[in-house]
Amino acid sequence: MAKNILVTGGAGYIGSHTVLQLLTGGYRTVVVDNLENSSAVALQRVKELAGQFGNNLSFHQVDLRDKAALKTIFTETKFDAVIHFAGLKAVGESVQKPLLYFNNNLIGTITLLEVMADHGCKNLVFSSSATVYGWPKEVPCTEEFPLSAANPYGRTKLFIEEICRDIHCSDSEWKIILLRYFNPVGAHPSGQIGEDPRGIPNNLMPFVQQVAVGRRPALTVFGNDYSTKDGTGVRDYIHVVDLADGHIAALCKLSDSKIGCEVYNLGTGKGTSVLEMVAAFEEASGKKIPLVMAGRRPGDAEIVYASTEKAEHELKWKAKYGIEEMCRDQWNWASKNPYGYGSPETTK
Ligand code: NAD
Ligand code: WQD
Repeated sequence: MAKNILVTGGAGYIGSHTVLQLLTGGYRTVVVDNLENSSAVALQRVKELAGQFGNNLSFHQVDLRDKAALKTIFTETKFDAVIHFAGLKAVGESVQKPLLYFNNNLIGTITLLEVMADHGCKNLVFSSSATVYGWPKEVPCTEEFPLSAANPYGRTKLFIEEICRDIHCSDSEWKIILLRYFNPVGAHPSGQIGEDPRGIPNNLMPFVQQVAVGRRPALTVFGNDYSTKDGTGVRDYIHVVDLADGHIAALCKLSDSKIGCEVYNLGTGKGTSVLEMVAAFEEASGKKIPLVMAGRRPGDAEIVYASTEKAEHELKWKAKYGIEEMCRDQWNWASKNPYGYGSPETTK
């Protein structure tokens, strides 16, 4: 019997890629998303890309905080596990609007956990983030590093991790995997789905992509005086398809009777600077990315990259793609969809 998986936030960037891998992997998938930061077009394309498996996808436009609607979905289907992506993720906005972030991310998650418990579904994979390592004292970051949060968004990830540990302590039937993603980039190789942020992108690669297609004049480089190879910040960029596959590995791990509440880094273990990433994108796209050097962005760490050993050993998962493939696939998506899922008229 095919397993039934509920994916919250499944219309979003990482969610849509994961839903596609789930469908092609033979899972039946139900998506709950309020489309606050995504488009239903992404799911139509996932359905098409999934071919014969496309019929195993269903979608509910529901906010996670709508408990009654969520209960109805759990009553209709008995889920084997939930992958929980839904949440707001813009660091700067979270500083301006902390209550929005606490309300959406925390209440959304608590409501989900309550409904799961009520329906006897106690298997969860949660989207945490490398942001919980703050400015790490050393690299690579292992899962045992001390945790901190530099902004309300990061605090929602920390709080949810703690909530998960507490509910597992209170009831050992819960099996929970907390996945700490590093910097997801790239797109599905088909070029049909990818990242489509609303407004001015906060993250490096969506900004670079919009410069390449002529939507923005230049990339502002936040700081070139760090103690790194070329002075710019170093991060662990991971192909979104590798990340999606990490979720399938986590679901397989949940079938392991011994697991309790476990945390895994999902990264490549390699650090790449801003300038190296820009150069790789220029190579992949044949486009020149004009740069404007600026001061450091407040709250930014210098060097962050993952220790990947735990995921490799215990999830039997390892990232396959390097920055060349990430940039190639991101450019393929960008050149086919310069305005994402929208059009010049609907997109600012
Ligand atoms: P995204 O914004 O593309 O996807 C999140 C989805 O959740 C969106 O489709 C949005 O509409 C939906 N959503 C938000 N609040 C909701 C609610 N209350 N009810 C129902 N749906 C809701 O973001 P993403 O990049 O795909 O990130 C997915 C998850 O991974 C998030 O939890 C994010 O914090 C986490 N994460 C992302 C990154 C990254 O750099 N992209 C890194 C680490 C962790
Ligand atoms: C990468 C590098 C910037 C934009 C963020 C969140 C984190 C996680 C992943 C969700 C840094 C530099 C960026 C630009 C630049 N998300 N940069 N010009 O900051 O590592 O992590 O996304 O959990 O929580 O904080 O990613 O892509 O914003 O920045 O020079 O216009 O690119 O300074 O060195 P970051 P990023």
